[in-house]
Amino acid sequence: MTAATTQDTDTSRISISAHYTGYIWYKHGLSAPGFVTTMGRIANAALTPVNAFLRLVAGADIDVFLLQRHSVIDHQVEQLIEQQGVEQVLELACGLSPRGYRLTQKYPQLHYIEGDLPGMAQRKQALLADISQTDKHQVFACNILEQHGEQSIQALLDKLDPGKKTLIVTEGLVNYFDLATIRGVWARMASGLKQFPAGYYVTDLYPDFVHHPSYKYVQFAQKLVGFFTRGQWPLHYRSDEAIESGFKQDGFSDVRVHDPAEFYGQLNVPQAKTQTLVRIIRASV
Ligand SMILES: C[S@@+](CC[C@H](N)C(=O)[O-])C[C@H]1O[C@@H](n2cnc3c(N)ncnc32)[C@H](O)[C@@H]1O
Repeated sequence: MTAATTQDTDTSRISISAHYTGYIWYKHGLSAPGFVTTMGRIANAALTPVNAFLRLVAGADIDVFLLQRHSVIDHQVEQLIEQQGVEQVLELACGLSPRGYRLTQKYPQLHYIEGDLPGMAQRKQALLADISQTDKHQVFACNILEQHGEQSIQALLDKLDPGKKTLIVTEGLVNYFDLATIRGVWARMASGLKQFPAGYYVTDLYPDFVHHPSYKYVQFAQKLVGFFTRGQWPLHYRSDEAIESGFKQDGFSDVRVHDPAEFYGQLNVPQAKTQTLVRIIRASV
């Protein structure tokens, strides 16, 4: 990736979306009242008719698609902690997600760092100061597009113990960037994770499944997200194989691409009537 200009790296227009997803996690019992904002409530109310329409024509609403990714990411993270001995998590673009709050209660040994753009990071710091129980749960300003300096991904990785197995998590982030840009970020993550005895990355990704029966509704969702965040929301890769190959080229190995439907009946994953739209990727270095 070529060096981004200062102007290119200001993506704070996207932060509004975190108020909406933050409200959805709360609405479905995954969060605490402190994570709810007025903007989140308003966005949820404004999208009620859209959700009713989507349930009618596409067999699932936005909540279903969000909960599918959230539950499967949680499952992957918990497996990595319990089965692979991960002791440190860096969740980037954390927004108002309660994952760190929940996991640090469930796994007190965990060092959990969250990162987001300065405005959102400040908001999250303030809310965690009120409700979080542990000093092993921290929030720092981070801009994933910064290649160097104190807000870069590397700077946050440097705050962790280089002797411990480490996981980076992103959710609801990667489709806000064009493929070349986000691949540059993925390559930096892979290279940064190599300093630990084991390094993992878990993310969601909305692929460009042009033959999906609900593709026209996906395109509608692209316009909706684009409208709210005043930018593009491109879909990446046209198959699970293309995802795997791309991640390997970016420096990851053992790339697993999960369809939430694999977990129907096993995890608390709401089911869609049509094929799923999102993939969860778990990769290691
Ligand atoms: C859709 S929200 C997702 C928030 C959270 N992960 C969730 O699932 O609820 C997208 C998040 O990306 C953050 N973001 C946007 N651009 C970013 C960047 N360049 N670096 C780090 N975070 C960024 C926003 O501030 C926002 O919190």
